[in-house]
Amino acid sequence: MASSQVRFALSLDYRRTVFKRARLMGRIKILSDEVVRRIAAGEVIECPSSVVKELLENSLDAGAHKIDITVEEGGKRKVVVSDDGCGMDADDLRLALVSHATSKISDEADIYRIETLGFRGEALSSIRSVASVEIKSRMKDSEHGWLIRAEAERIGEVLPCAMNCGTTVTVENLFFNLPARKKFLRSEQFETSRIIETVTKLALCHYDVAFRLTQKSQTLLNCPAVDGYLSRINGLFGGETKDSLLEGQAEESDVCALVFVAPPYLSRTDARIIYTFVNNRCVKEETARKALKDAFKEHLPSQRYPVAFIYITLPPETIDVNIHPTKEAVQIKKPALVYTAVRRAIDSALSGVRRFYAGGISSGLAERHRQIEQALSDYLKRNADVPTQKPLAVHFHSLKKQNEFVEETIPDGRFFVLHNAYIALETSEGFILIDQHALHERLIYDRLRALLAEQGLRLQRLLVPITVRLDAVEVTVFQYNKALFKTLGIDAELNGTNLTILSIPDLGVVQGEWENIVHQMMSEIIEQPDRDYKTRLDNALKTLACKAAVKAGEPLDSREVYTLLSEARRCHIPATCPHGRPLIKRFPLSEVERWFKR
Ligand SMILES: Nc1ncnc2c1ncn2[C@@H]1O[C@H](COP(=O)(O)OP(=O)(O)OP(=O)(O)O)[C@@H](O)[C@H]1O
Ligand SMILES: [Mg+2]
Repeated sequence: MASSQVRFALSLDYRRTVFKRARLMGRIKILSDEVVRRIAAGEVIECPSSVVKELLENSLDAGAHKIDITVEEGGKRKVVVSDDGCGMDADDLRLALVSHATSKISDEADIYRIETLGFRGEALSSIRSVASVEIKSRMKDSEHGWLIRAEAERIGEVLPCAMNCGTTVTVENLFFNLPARKKFLRSEQFETSRIIETVTKLALCHYDVAFRLTQKSQTLLNCPAVDGYLSRINGLFGGETKDSLLEGQAEESDVCALVFVAPPYLSRTDARIIYTFVNNRCVKEETARKALKDAFKEHLPSQRYPVAFIYITLPPETIDVNIHPTKEAVQIKKPALVYTAVRRAIDSALSGVRRFYAGGISSGLAERHRQIEQALSDYLKRNADVPTQKPLAVHFHSLKKQNEFVEETIPDGRFFVLHNAYIALETSEGFILIDQHALHERLIYDRLRALLAEQGLRLQRLLVPITVRLDAVEVTVFQYNKALFKTLGIDAELNGTNLTILSIPDLGVVQGEWENIVHQMMSEIIEQPDRDYKTRLDNALKTLACKAAVKAGEPLDSREVYTLLSEARRCHIPATCPHGRPLIKRFPLSEVERWFKR
């Protein structure tokens, strides 16, 4: 078709679409209350964890000291939240499910000084627009409780019932009347971990309230009331973080910041354990995050994130909590004060910590790795009867059988290593630069995949098991992914929140690194929960290969470089590492000659 014809056809097509859209526009009508409520509900209630969040906020606003949460199928089938708060009488119960009905504010001025978690009178009404709801409630001086049931537009009668003081809300069949929305709910594991995260966030800022979360009579979270934020954090987060958090506090005008940060050597590869709270609301507060990032700049290399809990308190009239449909963000009127208060609090927490990374050492992990390797090699030298074997050589045990790979063209030639990171190899056509970490990672990954397909990974039974303390989300992730860990040779038993590792794959990785590896594998699953088993397994292999490979900055002797290159020569290596970064760059002599105008 000639180009003018194509243009004409396209413009005709476009005009047809516009006409169709115009026809659909029609006359303006006022939507029915039901449609309005469903549209509004969609903004407040996105998934089962939004139901849990709204119900918990109500319980906390009602002054509860103890809250029990029970869920079924990750909350998709059922969510029950029971509290011992102030309860409601029959009249309040009748209004609770009606939209814009609230006991928390009464006039416009109240919007600008909100001290409760809820204020819109929208949550219960939104929930009943998209699910079946039953509320039972009893006030302290009442002889019995009251019950009401509702589903979409039908709100039932208020009836008397027997119960203890407090309120129990049961929400069933979420999105029963919105099949498209229901279809978008994720796997039970994912929805369960979102609920755990929601309860964790609220528990972190309400330490004096006891929370218990159960599913299929299994306790997923159990936090008794404690006497302060630090005890609550330590109760929820274990591992090395437990009992090692550094505390700092600062005030700037009427802004108060209380922070708990882990020392830099306990940094992570993801930002999952950075929590910011404003007036006991867990929100994504960017100013505080910026202060955190700046304060840790000299303590952490790039791509590493601190563990931090930041509590900011400021007068309610200096923030706007009414800017986000799910109340996940607030607007702070004087962010500069918040920045200064948080920064000073973190600086004071870190005041005794040495600035390891100011001099540009490439990675905190590499530093730790080197220290452990050094300690290990000193030990081995002292005990001469113990066979010493460099970790690199150990890695290559498993890389011997290579016949099935196609020969690649990494030629023979003289080589040397630049900056302990890049191998420069002279070739007849010029020279090649190879990233030592990327190449080693690629070789290990390819071999691990082949081994897994053939006979499985070789195991190393541990004389002294490794114990990794998991947080509640990680416990759930482990339970749903036991098979995956087993396939990788990580034989582990869960005891409460302690994961005891009995065997690991034989990769020559120092034992001290396994805690990090397990956390990283968990984080990857949490961040990409709906990936299928094969992809999750593949990602885990990439993590293992990355951890087992020599690092950039790690000195290799010429024998080791030679081994690395000859392994690479014997197999077909794609030009990238398993994560897709290039591993090889060729420099033809002709190009070099052109540079020098030869
Ligand atoms: N667990 C509870 N205990 C006591 N009263 C409750 C409880 N849950 C809800 N209520 C009452 O029902 C009202 C409506 O609750 P709903 O969650 O719909 O709105 P809200 O909390 O006022 O505002 P928001 O929509 O922002 O959550 C509340 O204002 C409160 O008076
Ligand atoms: Mg509410």
